Amino acid sequence: MGGLIPESFIEELLARADIVEVIERRVPMKRAGREYQACCPFHDEKTPSFTVSPQKQFYHCFGCGAHGSAIGFLMNYEGLEFVDAVEDLARHAGLEVPREASQKPRPSAGLYELMESAAAYYQGELKQSQAAIDYLKQRGLSGEVSREFGIGFAPAGWDKLLKRLGSDEKRVSLLQRAGMLSQGKSGTYDKFRHRIMFPIHDRRGRVIAFGGRALDDDGPKYLNSPETELFHKGRELYGLYLARKSQAKLDRIIVVEGYMDVVALAQFGFRNCVATLGTATNSEQAELLFRAADEVIFCFDGDRAGRKAAWRALEATLPRLREGRQAKFLFLPEGEDPDTMVRSKGAETFSALLDEAQPLSGFLFDHFTAEVDMSSIDGRARLVELARPQVDQIPPGVFHDMMFSRLEALAQHRLDDSRGKPPLPGGTAPIGRKPAQKRTPMRIALAHLVQNPKLSSEAGDAGVLSGCDLPGVEIYRELVDFCAKRPNMTTAQLLELWREHPAYSHLGTLATWQLPGEEKQLAQEFRDAVTGLELQWTEARISRMPKIVDLGPEERATLLQLQQHRQTLIEALQGEKS
Ligand code: UTP
Ligand code: MN
Repeated sequence: MGGLIPESFIEELLARADIVEVIERRVPMKRAGREYQACCPFHDEKTPSFTVSPQKQFYHCFGCGAHGSAIGFLMNYEGLEFVDAVEDLARHAGLEVPREASQKPRPSAGLYELMESAAAYYQGELKQSQAAIDYLKQRGLSGEVSREFGIGFAPAGWDKLLKRLGSDEKRVSLLQRAGMLSQGKSGTYDKFRHRIMFPIHDRRGRVIAFGGRALDDDGPKYLNSPETELFHKGRELYGLYLARKSQAKLDRIIVVEGYMDVVALAQFGFRNCVATLGTATNSEQAELLFRAADEVIFCFDGDRAGRKAAWRALEATLPRLREGRQAKFLFLPEGEDPDTMVRSKGAETFSALLDEAQPLSGFLFDHFTAEVDMSSIDGRARLVELARPQVDQIPPGVFHDMMFSRLEALAQHRLDDSRGKPPLPGGTAPIGRKPAQKRTPMRIALAHLVQNPKLSSEAGDAGVLSGCDLPGVEIYRELVDFCAKRPNMTTAQLLELWREHPAYSHLGTLATWQLPGEEKQLAQEFRDAVTGLELQWTEARISRMPKIVDLGPEERATLLQLQQHRQTLIEALQGEKS
């Protein structure tokens, strides 16, 4: 449940915040009967397959499979974490997010304010320092782009920031928690001194950390904020907030290595660039990237370090590849980085280079085929050994299958594909069309409950399924109980309360199933599904009985009873149909 936010609040929030309004503010929609329609913001399309149901407070795209509540929409569309999406919704609905008084508190608002003041202070100092202005000029930065990125200057001296913002003990302790101070033998002093300051924003645009570049060759070239309550560098990308702000849905996003690269590219019109913060790209960042754009281009130096960084990025990306998502790689000539490249060759040339970036598949197979002797059987066997684990990292789907076939072609050998099967329910909820699931009585029953919790009153006597061990029956029971307690819930509320449940993504898929429109028909279909379940269970019990010759008189009676019951159930189902 996101840990600290009470469930009751999630329920209330989803009752107050209308999903239609939330989406309409971002995606223009048209009314179509009881629903709303739009071209899907999560994939490219010309005819609308994105629908929003006010009744269920749920959206679903028939094209790419994306679906969820208003909270899920914000997470997907704005790239927000669960808690941030909840806070955003609450702000609009005029609600305050309550916190359960357990575990560690969220970072205090004071920390964010402090970072904001620090950024403002550094920006003010930049205007005062001719040396800093000259440095930025000499690096070719325009005043405009410097302002846009909030670039500032930390003056030389040991306690400039400390004096300015550390007026009392409480403020000093905040500065400490924010990672703005260093601790030496003789006391506390400013961490950033005599450096160009790049504020790092979180996805909501709040300053959470800084990167500071030395003006000369004194000390480390870059100094970054340490990990703090606000800042976890493995979860952030420099420039992501501004990139997303420049356009609702980016076509592509470019990942570079340095702060200066992001800023220089922005100045040349590439507003879709981000940098990892001095670390290799991890899988969480890969997910953030794909939420921002379907195409991700990693642009690194062509030297050994750059190739290594690219390979790490490739590994982080594989598990995040699904239909519609693409990763590419662009290696610059040795000694160049995007900053120097775009300045010397111009925006057009750089843009052409991006268009020719190497697709992930090529990079992956080239990397391995270069390592083995492709003309020998041993070499090709080694290729399979090396590449197979990587290909297996790709989620099931068309892309996985194509990579798998490519590996077979290169190996000149058929391989056993254990991965090309549909994902198990309960995994992550991927965007991308999955093969349609078979409509079993269990799935139909669950789908009805998720879409219409009221129907739990039609579930009948739970006793008829006593002892039942059919797959899914535990979820079914749990869901019936849950719905019975809250029959007036919307689909969105129900799912959000099940967000941490292993069946969450399975139920999410079932929430997208097309069911009859009429209430009477709905109830009947649900009851039939429940009867179908009972029939399956009865048949399972019959088939598990020993052979008839081995049965004692009591067991024979039981068998007969079961057979009669089966007949009754079959007739009940047939009666409904005629
Ligand atoms: P680079 O050395 O490629 O620097 O480091 P750069 O971005 O091209 O910088 P300029 O053009 O010389 O000003 C790439 C990134 O690695 C991290 C920083 O995030 C930097 O942007 N880095 C580099 C550090 O954290 N510390 C360092 O000392 C150097
Ligand atoms: Mn550089």
